[in-house]
Amino acid sequence: MSKELIRLRDLCMAYDDELVLDHLNLYINDKEFLTLLGPSGCGKTTTLRIIGGFSTPASGDVLFDGVRINDVPPYQRQINTVFQKYALFPHLNVFENIAFGLRMQRRSDPKDPKRKGKLSEEEIRERVMEMLEVISLKGFENRKPDALSGGQQQRVAIARALVNRPKVLLLDEPLGALDLKLRKDMQIELKRIQQQVGITFIYVTHDQEEALTMSDTIVVMDKGTIQQIGTPEDIYNEPKNAFVADFIGESNIIDGIMVRDNLVQMYGRQFPCLDGGFGENEPVDVVIRPEDIDIVPLEQGQLTGTVTGVTFKGMQYDIIVDFRGFKWLIQTTDHSPVGAKIGIKIDPDGIHVMKKSVYSGMYGDYSSFSDAYDELDDAEAGEDEDET
Ligand SMILES: Nc1ncnc2c1ncn2[C@@H]1O[C@H](COP(=O)(O)OP(=O)(O)O)[C@@H](O)[C@H]1O
Ligand SMILES: [Mg+2]
Repeated sequence: MSKELIRLRDLCMAYDDELVLDHLNLYINDKEFLTLLGPSGCGKTTTLRIIGGFSTPASGDVLFDGVRINDVPPYQRQINTVFQKYALFPHLNVFENIAFGLRMQRRSDPKDPKRKGKLSEEEIRERVMEMLEVISLKGFENRKPDALSGGQQQRVAIARALVNRPKVLLLDEPLGALDLKLRKDMQIELKRIQQQVGITFIYVTHDQEEALTMSDTIVVMDKGTIQQIGTPEDIYNEPKNAFVADFIGESNIIDGIMVRDNLVQMYGRQFPCLDGGFGENEPVDVVIRPEDIDIVPLEQGQLTGTVTGVTFKGMQYDIIVDFRGFKWLIQTTDHSPVGAKIGIKIDPDGIHVMKKSVYSGMYGDYSSFSDAYDELDDAEAGEDEDET
């Protein structure tokens, strides 16, 4: 069974009186692939830097294997880091780039106090070759970094961080500089490497799809606080609040009333659902994913609305439907033209009920969907350029 390796206890961090981490509590298991996910500025890098020992928290503790390590310097932690701007040494070949950490190894190795002095050349060669195997770059040892593709360079950076055999690897948006196709390949590759070396990866990204693809556990953050911790399936299927529902995938988020267990009311109509445990007639937020909505003949619809926008997406149509002034996104393979009146049906398991939160009313209406699309593209383009 998995064993706890790192624990963050009540971590707080402030810059200029501004709280950027607000009582963070989290444990990370040995051999786990855990991802910190959230919008730019939510505190992901700050959290990673504290785990790595590059920043000191204002209050709270970092425990490693049950021992408080707040005052242990980075090089004495069994933790290494890969940054997005990974800067290989341009004048050294691949072999020497990877060997660098081993040649620099401290004379008194904290991981092995009995060992004094440096590793033998033979041992270094063995370890570097083992790493080249892990990153699938055998035969590349004499190449200089500028003779490698971006993805290959990134793999060398990962090998360089792994060669010292840390127990934990921290990765801060390591794929941000790569183009989409390469990024997708590297996601699979990174997951494979993590499983092969069998250590803990703590990964930072603002890309929800990346998080869903790679992680055992996702930690969704906003404004220095944890919103939800769970498996990718938990986070997608059972978001805790409107922020998480909106950040992960597409969501229609509708104001509702939980009449009683297994019955929720929206637009004055009652919908059978599978959720329970709320107060009688408690106001709630209801999430309905665009792919969970069926279009049916008007007279069979639980609700009826008017199509106001259609976008062909290859696999499906994204259609925007106005239900009494609130616009939903529906993904369907059936084409309905703009102006059409349609009925919809939602199966009980397509409805997810959430408690009201500070995020209620902020998300989940697709009134400005095409605008939102443009903004999203702009934001992503901007971030790719200056994200660090
Ligand atoms: N060295 C610093 N000095 C002042 N503010 C900082 C510093 N580092 C980060 N911040 C602020 O802390 C917040 C969290 O930053 P960060 O952890 O880098 O977020 P993320 O990695 O999620 O984008 C942001 O508001 C950022 O501006
Ligand atoms: Mg960051």
